[in-house]
Amino acid sequence: MTTTIAITSGKGGVGKTTIAVNLALSLSLQKKETLLLDADLGMANAHILLGINPKLSLDDFINGNLELAKVITTTKDNLKFVSGGNAINNLLNLGDLERHKIIKSFNDISKKPEFMIIDVGAGAEASSMTFMASADKVIVVLTGEPTSFIDAYSLIKTSFLDYKMNNFGIIVNLSTSPLQAKLNFDKFQSITHKFLDVNLKFLGHVPTSQKIKNSIISRSALMTSKVESPEKNAFNEISKNLLSLGNNKTGTIKFFDN
Ligand SMILES: Nc1ncnc2c1ncn2[C@@H]1O[C@H](COP(=O)(O)OP(=O)(O)OP(=O)(O)O)[C@@H](O)[C@H]1O
Ligand SMILES: [Mg+2]
Repeated sequence: MTTTIAITSGKGGVGKTTIAVNLALSLSLQKKETLLLDADLGMANAHILLGINPKLSLDDFINGNLELAKVITTTKDNLKFVSGGNAINNLLNLGDLERHKIIKSFNDISKKPEFMIIDVGAGAEASSMTFMASADKVIVVLTGEPTSFIDAYSLIKTSFLDYKMNNFGIIVNLSTSPLQAKLNFDKFQSITHKFLDVNLKFLGHVPTSQKIKNSIISRSALMTSKVESPEKNAFNEISKNLLSLGNNKTGTIKFFDN
């Protein structure tokens, strides 16, 4: 059985890719078969954070007629990875049919992973919404900024009203302390609960960290460092909380039949 988890946010640039990459590596390093899908199509950059340069991407699957298994790369930490291609290819404006072709094709993989983490583009555009609705679980990345709150609320509202999603995991990124992160979550939850009947689950926080910034600049994901750190603990802690997050029953197609 594969548990698919979409990582999204209302506002861009809040740390989705950083979190998707390190969470996927955390699971993979715990010897759980994990696949990371970069579904920020046309703007994909998870491979940069992973420090790899895969030759094939979803573009070769969609436009080059390669089977999906052929565009899966395995990193040295045994993480399976599917790249979402770059702005040069035609993935930016995919239609419904192609998106469905991508989603349905994962079921054909012969060795199904235990977890699939999906880095989804920000906001409530059609592409992001389809990938979110096709995942079992959805995580929204939040920061303490009011703009992040408002955009995350709008995304949750659209997901709830249009796709019947009602379970959302929340990760607070760029926090200054565990207490402040929890307070931000509580505040966001109380605003959301005033207007929407959805379940929000606090999965943990990631501190604002120079180590994380440096890891991005050096293209060497933080989780692969041999040295223990509060940041690594934060990602491991979040990975332990994943299964306690409820699934969404959207009635739309899913990545895996299970
Ligand atoms: N916990 C953190 N500590 C320090 N810097 C961070 C942290 N998380 C993210 N950043 C910084 O924020 C920038 C944006 O992060 P990231 O690319 O992961 O966001 P994103 O939500 O995926 O963006 P986009 O919406 O463009 O896909 C990174 O370049 C990184 O420098
Ligand atoms: Mg990103």
